[in-house]
Amino acid sequence: MPDLNAAKPAPEIDRLRQIIRRHDYLYYVLDKPEILDSEYDKLFRQLESLEKAHPELITSDSPTQRVGGKPLDKFGQVAHALPMLSLSNAFERGEILEFDSRIRRGLGTAEQIDYVVEPKYDGIAVQLVYENGMLASGSTRGDGYVGEDITANVRTIKAIPLKLIPNGMLGSADVLDVRGEIFMNRADFDELNRSRDELGLPAFANPRNATAGSVRQLDPKVTAQRPLKFIAHGVGRVEGQLPSRHWEILSNMAEAGLPASLQNSKLCAGISEVLDHYDYLKNIRPDLPYEIDGAVIKVDSLELQDLLGIKTRSPRWALAYKFQPLQTTTVIQRIDVNVGRTGALTPVAIMAPVSVGGVTVTRATLHNQDEVDRKNVREGDTVLIQRAGDVIPEIVEVIPDLRPENSLPYRIPDHCPVCGAEAVRLEGQAAKRCVNVSCPARLKETVRHFASRGAMDIEGLGTKLIEQLVDRGLVKNPADLYYLDKPTLMSLERMAEKSAANILTALNNSRKTSVDRFLYSLGIPLVGEHIARLLMEEYGDIEALAVKSPEEMRQIPGIGPEVSQSVSAFCHELKNREMLERLTNAGVIPIPLKIPQRDNAPLLNKLFVFTGTINIPRDEAKRMVEAAGGKVTGSVSKKTDFVVAGADPGSKLDKAQQFGVKVINEHQFRQLLE
Ligand code: IVH
Repeated sequence: MPDLNAAKPAPEIDRLRQIIRRHDYLYYVLDKPEILDSEYDKLFRQLESLEKAHPELITSDSPTQRVGGKPLDKFGQVAHALPMLSLSNAFERGEILEFDSRIRRGLGTAEQIDYVVEPKYDGIAVQLVYENGMLASGSTRGDGYVGEDITANVRTIKAIPLKLIPNGMLGSADVLDVRGEIFMNRADFDELNRSRDELGLPAFANPRNATAGSVRQLDPKVTAQRPLKFIAHGVGRVEGQLPSRHWEILSNMAEAGLPASLQNSKLCAGISEVLDHYDYLKNIRPDLPYEIDGAVIKVDSLELQDLLGIKTRSPRWALAYKFQPLQTTTVIQRIDVNVGRTGALTPVAIMAPVSVGGVTVTRATLHNQDEVDRKNVREGDTVLIQRAGDVIPEIVEVIPDLRPENSLPYRIPDHCPVCGAEAVRLEGQAAKRCVNVSCPARLKETVRHFASRGAMDIEGLGTKLIEQLVDRGLVKNPADLYYLDKPTLMSLERMAEKSAANILTALNNSRKTSVDRFLYSLGIPLVGEHIARLLMEEYGDIEALAVKSPEEMRQIPGIGPEVSQSVSAFCHELKNREMLERLTNAGVIPIPLKIPQRDNAPLLNKLFVFTGTINIPRDEAKRMVEAAGGKVTGSVSKKTDFVVAGADPGSKLDKAQQFGVKVINEHQFRQLLE
């Protein structure tokens, strides 16, 4: 069967190219694909195989020819036909109003001016030259007159047409210089950095740096892998007809298949609409997929642009109204420590006041010691800080070259700056904490916990009341609660005789709580109700606990190194011991738990290992063994007394048989406990 395409390959190749170009435009410029990737790939492969069969028909504007050629040794130079100017910057509303009056003065008119306001893309400025609709060259801005020849690289950017659609004045110009910005979406930037990280390559600092690095690659194959975008925001030389307004230039470029800067741009009648659109851009800024650093305001009429002319290197008819930068540098004067309501010591950098995004900042949290170490932040350092939205500023990085000589690494102090008690960092915890539960910084939280339902259960002693008691200095630690009298309570806001009496009764009733609840009430970090019970079941009361070393406590099943360290730090702090004594003096004498008579315990010191599935939850089974004086371990050894095997036992059963350990089932286990 004859191949129809073979008979007329040229028209078919042409047809495929046009279809592919249209889908490139829909996908890369409009972001509105109409076909599936797989369908696109099929078209692309058809074109590739036809071109392979007819290499004489390959042209440089074919979609298959985006990546070609060898890596360069260095970039060539390109002289721009018309200089690529820069823009004057403004940061304040007043400067915008001044810009408008200057223009009207210059033109000698009282009429309002039409302006185009566009997002100011934070990317790399480039110029594309189209000759007879074909992309002939691409160059960087360089010094404005001469730039680098990056033609091979811009050809790989899919949003840049290799061939214009011959629509409108600009699409059919003999020569057209397109000015625009190459940039990268934030999400693509993150993804790029993630994959670089996997390859052990250094991360790019921001999308703009990543774009610059990608555009200036000597090997276009590398550029082709980078997720670059392009937006066209103006023209240079035009040989052909030129529209009379900038807004028409933008729409003409769009008609010619260029990604013109129309999205989020506005044609504004007069300067107040300009200011409104600036506000609009500022608001949508965080939600845009790419970074913009301001708005560009341009006089719409090209005739007026010509009349206004150029001042040295920037046009009088345009202005960049920049957003306040969200990143800046400043110096850390000192590092203070803030003590939170849980006693956590947080280092805070106190910085020379600086404006970030229009807000003056002086403080930034350093979170904890690990964070300080990771960023290697020291007093006296110059740091880059940033503010995202309304959140408090954070330190991005230290600028090492500006570090003063003799600076020392920063360490969070070993004592609480508020009360002077010891500050301890428990294993596995990020924060160093003040161990004095009555530290003024954490007192309200301590009292609230002390009085709460699962703790001393002092009814009526709510948050509002605690605030008043602490703020007025009536309660300096939980023990002070028991020294309050009726007149004092009645002197507080919203406290009548009846409620004062109720609180005194509740306080009185709480004196006789059980010792494990009491221990829990003290608010020792990591000591919850369960841990408190384990400790009191072992030692009976707080006096007995207080003399135990962390190593001794760790012998209790269920007590790990963190808990024992925390309890021991609490008991060693003089301020805590004073509080306990004051509680005793106030008649808070909790009822001790009976220490189990271990001699009578049926399974005293017997070692158990469980394997397979039984009908008792593991922690429950563990408690049953422990209540009977035994212990549960995870692996079988010669010392194991019993292996309790359920359904589908694991290798522990084999081990038991190997060591000759007695194996029992669930039923026998229950019998043993009885
Ligand atoms: S128009 C006469 N429009 O900002 C200069 N520039 O600081 C005409 N830029 O080099 C520039 N977005 O690369 C224009 N919508 C936009 C822009 C934009 C970003 C860049 C441009 C220029 C720089 C000036």
